[in-house]
Amino acid sequence: MSQHQHPDLSHLWMPFTANQQFKKDPRLLVGAKGMYYTAAGGEQILDATAGLWCVNAGHGREEISAAIAQQTQTLDYAPSFQIGHEDSFRAAKAVAQLMPKGLDRIFFTNSGSEAIDTALKIAIAYHRARGDAQRTRLIGRERGYHGVGFGGISVGGISNNRKNFSSLLLPHVDHLPHTHHLEKNAFSRGQPAWGAHLADELENIIALHDPSTIAAVVVEPMAGSTGVLVPPKGYLEKLREITAKHGILLIFDEVITAFGRLGYNTASEMLGITPDLITLAKGISNAAVPAGAVAVHRDLHDAIVHGSAGGIEFFHGYTYSAHPLATAAILATLDIYAREELFMRARRLSPYLEQAAHALRDSRHVMDIRNIGLVAGIELSPRPGAAGARAAEAFEKCFDRGVLIRYTADTIAISPPLIVTEGQIDQIFNTLAEVLKTID
Ligand SMILES: Cc1ncc(COP(=O)(O)O)c(C=O)c1O
Repeated sequence: MSQHQHPDLSHLWMPFTANQQFKKDPRLLVGAKGMYYTAAGGEQILDATAGLWCVNAGHGREEISAAIAQQTQTLDYAPSFQIGHEDSFRAAKAVAQLMPKGLDRIFFTNSGSEAIDTALKIAIAYHRARGDAQRTRLIGRERGYHGVGFGGISVGGISNNRKNFSSLLLPHVDHLPHTHHLEKNAFSRGQPAWGAHLADELENIIALHDPSTIAAVVVEPMAGSTGVLVPPKGYLEKLREITAKHGILLIFDEVITAFGRLGYNTASEMLGITPDLITLAKGISNAAVPAGAVAVHRDLHDAIVHGSAGGIEFFHGYTYSAHPLATAAILATLDIYAREELFMRARRLSPYLEQAAHALRDSRHVMDIRNIGLVAGIELSPRPGAAGARAAEAFEKCFDRGVLIRYTADTIAISPPLIVTEGQIDQIFNTLAEVLKTID
């Protein structure tokens, strides 16, 4: 390590971080290009996580930074309330073209959390616009992650994110069971064979509350943040069937899974399932500018917008909805994805990643390996009395060996930019294999 002088670390309250530990032994990044971060000491760190599942086209893409730079000089900011700017419409069309048929009305946000809260509000507003005002109940899923807004943590199922606020969460929310079952599905390649019937629990929840009270079901097609839970074969299809039967909207939170992560425009496209709303963020702008969106079926949009007597139809929006820098980044990003056929590249690389990940099967502490598209999860058995410690140690040791991985509890998640090469995939998993040998 070179002798790098850190700035004063005391003022920043870091998100989702063990602040005290971090500040004793900080890992700071100072640059990024292509597949690599540069750490403060000058080390090159291979990015096996696309930042936070978001830098799908790789770092430092010049087309995107040029578009942003130019935008700052031509139109730095424009309000999106009662006035518009042209690129916001172009960006909406470009996003709509990647969505399943019918989901071609786009509401811009700045993040995934905002996208989820927006989607929940649209779902409720839709039912109300149709005279179904009693349909307000929302159904999420255990272990789901939908960001950190009150709506998102209410439908989400990660107890650490909820427990401080448990008495203040949205009322009338229920949860499906999660789909993680090691004894049935450990070491499945791609979608596990067992578990479609877990969707039948939705029928029980619906029967309990009566379908006429339920607005929407929201799930991540692949649950990422909780530790890479791949949907069992037939499970999401059943959720679609049951929701459609009862007039309940289905929201897919595709903040991670859209824009090529699974080798397709969306998980919906991959699986041939069309939900009613899709939440987006992360890869939408290659993370160069914060951006998110909700893709809404035009029937929902029309019910709310055309069903209105006039005036503002939906009292919702953000100062920075369709911020000009975000729309410039979105347009440049989607252009790169198309030009370089990165989603197809991810699809082609996915069997290679699967093979490399499952080669860790006999490594120390490995209890399960899961994969879909360009994502792999490696679950370690927890150290007795210190859950999460092994994965945390693996993270630190991989970083010290020049590879950035991600972990939640004892699951390590690998989700490299879609420009990753086979050699870099080897490097990621070989490093992990070496590191696992050193962990007690
Ligand atoms: C599925 C999903 N939804 C929502 C979010 C929240 O997005 P943001 O952190 O941009 O608010 C995330 C972030 O990881 C996510 O994975």
